[in-house]
Amino acid sequence: MLSSRLAARIARDGPIPFDEFMAVCLYDEEEGYFAAGPLRSVAAGDFLTSPEVSSWFGTMMGRFALELRRGSGHPDRFRVVEVAAGSGSLLRPLRRELPEGTEIDAIEVSAAARAALRDLLGDEHVHARMDTLPSRFDGLVIANELLDNLPVAVAVRAASGWEERWVGHDAGGFHLVAAPCRPEVARWCDRHAGAVPVDGIVEVQLAAGEWLRAALGRLGRGAVVVIDYGGTADELVGRRAHGTLRTYRGHHLGPDPLLEPGANDITVDVDFGALVSVAEDAGAVTELTTQAAFLEDLGLREEIERLRRRERELAASGDTMDRLRVRAEVTDAETLLHPRGLGDFRVLVARKG
Ligand SMILES: C[S@@+](CC[C@H](N)C(=O)[O-])C[C@H]1O[C@@H](n2cnc3c(N)ncnc32)[C@H](O)[C@@H]1O
Repeated sequence: MLSSRLAARIARDGPIPFDEFMAVCLYDEEEGYFAAGPLRSVAAGDFLTSPEVSSWFGTMMGRFALELRRGSGHPDRFRVVEVAAGSGSLLRPLRRELPEGTEIDAIEVSAAARAALRDLLGDEHVHARMDTLPSRFDGLVIANELLDNLPVAVAVRAASGWEERWVGHDAGGFHLVAAPCRPEVARWCDRHAGAVPVDGIVEVQLAAGEWLRAALGRLGRGAVVVIDYGGTADELVGRRAHGTLRTYRGHHLGPDPLLEPGANDITVDVDFGALVSVAEDAGAVTELTTQAAFLEDLGLREEIERLRRRERELAASGDTMDRLRVRAEVTDAETLLHPRGLGDFRVLVARKG
């Protein structure tokens, strides 16, 4: 079992950094929550994401891709890559907005998700890692609810400076132990964490930064779009007293991340300020906005108004089944814009070239 293997490793080598523990819990090939389990981002899974709530999310991303493709100089060479593509619920409507023959690839660590994506895109367009894509391409890279899962180190602001929390194990199970801060973790905190009170907890998102740097490194001309929950350091400061590390299971908050390794989605609020710095250091031009503003700019409000008019026409003609179908479509599309829910997710657009 994963927990016995982790406990044996800690008994042999001593406590491990939290990011290593999280990486094993989520990505262990045999028992990791994402790598080995069933499809997670579906109604029967543990959480529902924007593209699963409404196909308008993928349609709007398709329109964004189309605009980017038009301005790309070589539209025929334009490629769309979704990383963490889940069931394919974003790419399915996105593809309908793009000219036939546009190259579309999906990257997924989950074997169950890759099987679903192969049906949609064909074997050669579904990858387990970004390494199998061309080393350079023009286009759009999308990551919706990926970066909140990338492993984080846990740092605590002590009176004398930064400390880390590593994972130990004894008869009582897994627990956090204080450890000296690794230099790269302290550097990240000094640069990005902002005004953290003593005892405040910071999730150090080095892996998210590395992911963004690698994605931008492959792009000649185009954009990387990251959508997730989180905020800038100023917005996150109110959450530092307890930190934002948590788990999800069955559409609800789950148990402590140290319990039942491999059985839960471990996640944090994404530090978008740190991502903006990484993108700008890599030469990209950035825009940071909310999901509601991003989708409204692409015309989602107008689409919802059009659907409402259609609903009224169907009500007048007495077509109840179609009216209810359109009503449900309106409700789902509005959910994407909800100011205290999905509409408050952040969208980072990092453009190159
Ligand atoms: C919250 S779901 C989001 C799925 C999809 N983007 C959506 O919005 O419905 C997270 C997905 O990311 C995948 N994933 C997690 N870490 C990944 C990684 N490092 N590379 C590729 N996929 C990853 C998981 O397998 C899972 O399907």
